[in-house]
Amino acid sequence: MNEKLWGGRFSQSTDDLVEKFNASIDVDKRLYDSDIEGSIAHVKMMAKESIIPETDARTIIEGLEKVRKKIENNEIAFSASLEDIHMHIEDALGKEVGDVGKKLHTGRSRNDQVALDVRIYLKKETRLIIGLLTGFQKALVTMAQKHLDVIMPGYTHLQRAQPVLFSHHLMAYYEMFKRDIQRFEDCFKRIDVMPLGAAALAGTTYPLNREFTKELLCFSKVSDNSIDSVSDRDFVMEFIAHASIAMIHFSRLSEEMILWSSSEFSFITISDSFTTGSSIMPQKKNPDVAELVRGKTGRVLGNLINILTLMKSLPLAYNKDMQEDKEPLFDTVDTLKICTDVYTRMFGNIEIHKDRMFNACKHGFLNATDLADYLVSKGMTFRQAHAVAGQAVAHALDQGKELDDMTIQEFKALSELIEKDVYEFIEIDKTISRRITYGGTGFDNVKQAVKKAAGELGLQ
Ligand code: ARG
Repeated sequence: MNEKLWGGRFSQSTDDLVEKFNASIDVDKRLYDSDIEGSIAHVKMMAKESIIPETDARTIIEGLEKVRKKIENNEIAFSASLEDIHMHIEDALGKEVGDVGKKLHTGRSRNDQVALDVRIYLKKETRLIIGLLTGFQKALVTMAQKHLDVIMPGYTHLQRAQPVLFSHHLMAYYEMFKRDIQRFEDCFKRIDVMPLGAAALAGTTYPLNREFTKELLCFSKVSDNSIDSVSDRDFVMEFIAHASIAMIHFSRLSEEMILWSSSEFSFITISDSFTTGSSIMPQKKNPDVAELVRGKTGRVLGNLINILTLMKSLPLAYNKDMQEDKEPLFDTVDTLKICTDVYTRMFGNIEIHKDRMFNACKHGFLNATDLADYLVSKGMTFRQAHAVAGQAVAHALDQGKELDDMTIQEFKALSELIEKDVYEFIEIDKTISRRITYGGTGFDNVKQAVKKAAGELGLQ
């Protein structure tokens, strides 16, 4: 005799190990709230359509509210024998209201139920994540506002390339996170589809009013195909893909935080509250937060491969494999949330060393392109000018000088076109102010970009 909710056709009880193996309760218990919300809507709809009597619906709803409280007060013991959160709630409901509770699962399968629960959960989490990412954008823009005119070396190949504004560099991250938010907003539309009514896969014989359930649960649309409704996990794959890109953005920023806080760079100091020491080396102050975020990027990318591999080649419709979708999803949600949160807090606790940044611009010929541009302004073609500026760099290197230290005679030996005004032309400040193209690092352009972003975010 089998006591399972699905045990009717079984004559032997489930093997103990299989019971443990099959259970997902340890993972899916976090869906309890979404599950109860979905069940209440289903019951209200069934009463409206006279599929069950109004009085029964009221009893079931009161029972479900009690179950919710009990779960919140840890008064319900979770056990592998009840498999998943859906069966635990149905079982607890039965204990609250008796046999009438058995009407809840009319016209419904765990297949459409779990699809609904995950969608309710992920809508909430996506909104929260968009809010957190926006909070981090505020931290980026606030820092850019505070250090608007600070000049630092811009890098390519991690070699000093051309001077840029530190604020411009920060605003590059603002743009990345803006696209991340847009991606989440876009995928929200596809999460926001109500699958209940698909039942096991084929729809049901009861006259369910799916539009009404959709309205009660504040979904934007009802799913159009019952087979797709129970087998679609595109929205999970999409969400984790977008989270992976956001984490990659955080990992790039982390790498920079780690480099910049090293004594080799010394561009920034991260406050003590966001760093840790070493158990053996007393002098150490390690950028653990940035390192951990960089490391945790790996688990989110792993989650993406996990869900993609899980779904690959699965025949329609529901397959038990899909129970495994929750671990990568929940881990992604948790990881992205905590990383965004901790970064937002850490950003208010970073000191900027503008002199170190500026001094770094003075070494390494960051104004060599400007020398070429100078020659172009005097009538030379750019390719020729590039060669002359290259010769100037070779000469300066040979003499142990920077371009600014070369005498006018040394310059003239390379090109008669060079006059004394070259010195002003290649000054670091000037190299910034002359970069007037829209989107470039010119002072006015960055000021406008920061102002626009502050406006978008409702900052001053
Ligand atoms: N725990 C299951 C899951 O997460 C619920 C759906 C089970 N459906 C089934 N036909 N066994 O996928």
